[in-house]
Amino acid sequence: MEEQKKKKILSLIQPTNTPHLGNYLGAMCNWVKMQEEFDCTYGIADLHSLTVRQDPVKLRGQIKESYALLIASGLDPEKSTLFVQSHNPHHSELAWLLNCYTQFGELSRMTQFKDKSAKHPDNINAGLFTYPVLMAADILLYQADMVPVGVDQMQHLELARNICQRFNGVYGDVFTMPEGYITKATAKVMSLQEPTKKMSKSDENVNASVSVLDDRDTIIRKFKRAVTDSETEVCAREGKDGIINLMSIYSGVTGKSFDEIEAEFKGKGYGDFKLAVGEAVADKLAPMQEEYKRVSFDKAYIESCMKLGAEKAYKVSRKTLQKVQKKVGFIVF
Ligand code: TYM
Repeated sequence: MEEQKKKKILSLIQPTNTPHLGNYLGAMCNWVKMQEEFDCTYGIADLHSLTVRQDPVKLRGQIKESYALLIASGLDPEKSTLFVQSHNPHHSELAWLLNCYTQFGELSRMTQFKDKSAKHPDNINAGLFTYPVLMAADILLYQADMVPVGVDQMQHLELARNICQRFNGVYGDVFTMPEGYITKATAKVMSLQEPTKKMSKSDENVNASVSVLDDRDTIIRKFKRAVTDSETEVCAREGKDGIINLMSIYSGVTGKSFDEIEAEFKGKGYGDFKLAVGEAVADKLAPMQEEYKRVSFDKAYIESCMKLGAEKAYKVSRKTLQKVQKKVGFIVF
């Protein structure tokens, strides 16, 4: 009997600062879960990170750290393709081609572009504007069926789907139509200090986010300081954004439902709840942190994994790029 083809999964993370709990629960956790069942490609989006000024020495360190964290989180470089985006020139090439199939108006509507332009008014560069086209290229190059991301990337994914449909409409079935893959409870982990704002790497308040490499005491301290409300009941009622965020995080790391969490903390105060969330998060991250210490120490191993990932990514994406080049009328050898 013919073996059923595995579905293809693709997702990337930017190497700007150490990943936080939002990145971990919103995306990385699913990456590991999907590895056994699917044909997975995961990468470090270093090209994307240049849309904001970066210190070169720091960036190089962050790329290595983020890559080592992928391995430490449980991703296997043999089973999955783990690569660094700039190691595969096909991403920039396809992005240029897709730029010519993307409308100025579509890109102008991207909320991330508007937010980042407001945040960096002195550097509203063309890369920031065309950022979602590069992301579409990342996805379409590997013919991804599913893209596990947090909710903040859904607008970009929708654009990738529009570009896909437009291109296929002109040239036939060149690209696979990608679907988003989201875990509802943790699709948008919020700031611990301003629970109506998403947890973000660029937040200047260190207590607003938990880095996946924060030590146990720091994690617990940050949760103890988390902003909640003036009530005492642990429940997911409207207006209780801080508590709902903590319940979502607790649910994400323990697998417990909201009903189970409400029952567990019935009659107990926020103090007990915050401590339990902090401890559960610290417990969840501990194995990855241990593994990170071991993996990041082995520079030769990391480098060999990066090379393997680059080769695998190049080979797969070359097929798609050549197909596109032929379709648009280029001469391909
Ligand atoms: P990045 O690096 O900002 O974030 C990486 C992943 O983490 C998710 N995420 C969150 N999930 C839940 N709660 C949060 N507070 C939170 N913050 C971030 C993001 O949704 C993302 O899944 N443009 C992308 C990287 C990228 C990409 C791609 C993703 C480049 N090419 C192709 C998918 C497919 C980004 O900046 O993610």
